[in-house]
Amino acid sequence: MKKELFMIIIMFSLFGCVSSPKTQISNPSFETGDLSGWIAEGEAFTDDVITSKITYGPHNRFFEHEGQYHLHGAINASKTGTLTSSTFRITNTGYISFLIGGGANYNLAYIGLYDAKTDEELSRRHNTMFDDPTHTDGYVRVIWDVSDLMGQDVYLKIVDNDTSDYYSYLNVDDFRINLTEEELAHFQVDALVRLGHPAEGYELEAINRYISMNAWKIDESLKMNYHVTGQIGWINDPNGFVHFNGQHHLFYQHNPKDVVWGPMHWGHVVSDDFIKWEYLPIALAPNKPYDSEGAFSGSALDIDGKLYLFYTGNIPNRQVQAIATSTDGINFIKYEGNPVIDETTLPPHASAVDFRDPKVWEKDGMYYMVVGSRQVQNNYGQILMFRSENLTNWDYHGTLYQGTSATFDKLGYMWECPDVFKLGDRYVLIMSPQQVPGHRNYNSTVYVVGDLNYETGELENIDYHAIDEIDYGFDFYAPQTMVDDQGRRIMVAWMQSWNREPVTAHLGFSGFMTLPRVLDLEDGKLIQRPVPEIKNYRQNKTTAQFSITNRTRSIEGMEGDSKEILLTLIPDGSRAGIKLFVGDNEETLVYYEDGHIVFDRTNGTNGRINSEAINNITRVPVELIDGAVELRIFLDKYSVEVFINGGQRVITSTVFPSQNAQGIEFFTQGTASFIVETYDIIVD
Ligand code: FRU
Repeated sequence: MKKELFMIIIMFSLFGCVSSPKTQISNPSFETGDLSGWIAEGEAFTDDVITSKITYGPHNRFFEHEGQYHLHGAINASKTGTLTSSTFRITNTGYISFLIGGGANYNLAYIGLYDAKTDEELSRRHNTMFDDPTHTDGYVRVIWDVSDLMGQDVYLKIVDNDTSDYYSYLNVDDFRINLTEEELAHFQVDALVRLGHPAEGYELEAINRYISMNAWKIDESLKMNYHVTGQIGWINDPNGFVHFNGQHHLFYQHNPKDVVWGPMHWGHVVSDDFIKWEYLPIALAPNKPYDSEGAFSGSALDIDGKLYLFYTGNIPNRQVQAIATSTDGINFIKYEGNPVIDETTLPPHASAVDFRDPKVWEKDGMYYMVVGSRQVQNNYGQILMFRSENLTNWDYHGTLYQGTSATFDKLGYMWECPDVFKLGDRYVLIMSPQQVPGHRNYNSTVYVVGDLNYETGELENIDYHAIDEIDYGFDFYAPQTMVDDQGRRIMVAWMQSWNREPVTAHLGFSGFMTLPRVLDLEDGKLIQRPVPEIKNYRQNKTTAQFSITNRTRSIEGMEGDSKEILLTLIPDGSRAGIKLFVGDNEETLVYYEDGHIVFDRTNGTNGRINSEAINNITRVPVELIDGAVELRIFLDKYSVEVFINGGQRVITSTVFPSQNAQGIEFFTQGTASFIVETYDIIVD
């Protein structure tokens, strides 16, 4: 007993005071900004090869290094030498990982692992990607299994014996020694993502990585001031507009890798007040057999603290409806039983090809879904209604509303992006018909007021003559609504339309959202008012009141491209209005003429918006109230939104003024009186 205790004390004092072997190397990612902790021999590795430079080559491609610094051996390209790490013992999974670029001649340029006692080379790795021209200097990740050396003391050596002039150097970064199981899993994903052709299941990581590596290239000062746009690339329809966990969430159709429509993802922003938005990671990527050609538009629902997304999976010759859920409102998991509705549930009169954009709501414990559809026999649009008790099993319930030859003039063919909601004591259907004949917007948006019969799934008591356009401008499509935490019905739309040249594509981003608007139904008419939260961003109030006859005038200090303008116009001549974005030979006009408000961007786009045969002038009938018309106009860098007479009519359009076209002027033919109040809208 005594002897055993003695032995334990001896052993403890022998090993207890010996410092345990290191399991990490010094300065593994060169974050000291120099070669501290490494031993350099020869001339290839000097302190100045450690750099924080982020791009390489004539096209400014990204190294995609980690942290601030990395080792950019190209600085001493023709030199030779070695760089030796501190010693470490192999433990955990026995995996090592690092980033490598360059090193074309891998017999001469490689990373070796050496026995710390004998200096014998045990294993080596090189850049297997060097001969793919897209990967020579961009980092790829090496995952290195050295578990057969478990427990041994070793060191790494970066070897460069290449004196040629063809990628005869090594770039390295981010050595990770003795990975845990969790780290190994993480870096295996990173390795796949870095290859740019991510294996199935990693598409979301890859696209989010693409955004984080590239979005900074977009000049933020050229983006809108208070309208949502993508971080980089293309956006279209608003999707999944919902209040969840105390915040307003807005998703959108998104092709981050290009400024034109392409593989559809769901981009994601959140806001506390509908005005100031923050980007979140991409929520959905097209990565399943049932959505391989795009995660198309849809909606969201908060069900007992779980966020459900309902979207269309686009696949060749078919569209199906699918679900994804999230508990944190950021990371979404696609439902294993997807798709939840496919062509087998469709009634015979519905096309399986044009079957998209589910909007879901709950009533009395039952879930209802409306989906945009096309009738097989005549191509006219229709809205289908489905019903479910549990969100996963859906039955076809009825055809909510159906186009006929009689509605063709107003409602065209296929109807996209339906939304159905109660407003006051009636139901409103909003939708986006395609191919409306002779319309200034071939793709239009309309609202239909009726009563919803939940038994038959039909919208009844529709007055066809009361069906009206939601917006009278050029750029308003695919609107979607949500109910917020104050019970308000809020609508947002894509502030663009199809077949138009996106105004800012050359700046690396294209497509915007409208200002969110509160909806009301008054005398059967849809009334839209900008969310009142916008008032919190007003600054620099300017006012003026005057009458002018046959002339143009400006007001001292009243100018800018991020503004709210409140204008009461009392016309007493043939034409009276306001000129916006006035510059040398350019202006956008909003004026009253002969019972109409006219919007004219003929000289307001620098020739950028001409791709559809449109004349850039739109007019909407208005009534003077006590001889006056009230305009509330919002300007942002590339947009004008005109709310007429308290939101009875709205004109929403993009413009493309020169950057210095900041003037605001008032003009008349004949006489008119003006009462004006303006603010800068400043969101930082
Ligand atoms: C409407 C739309 C939708 C579709 C989406 C695809 O603009 O055509 O019907 O889901 O865009 O991006």
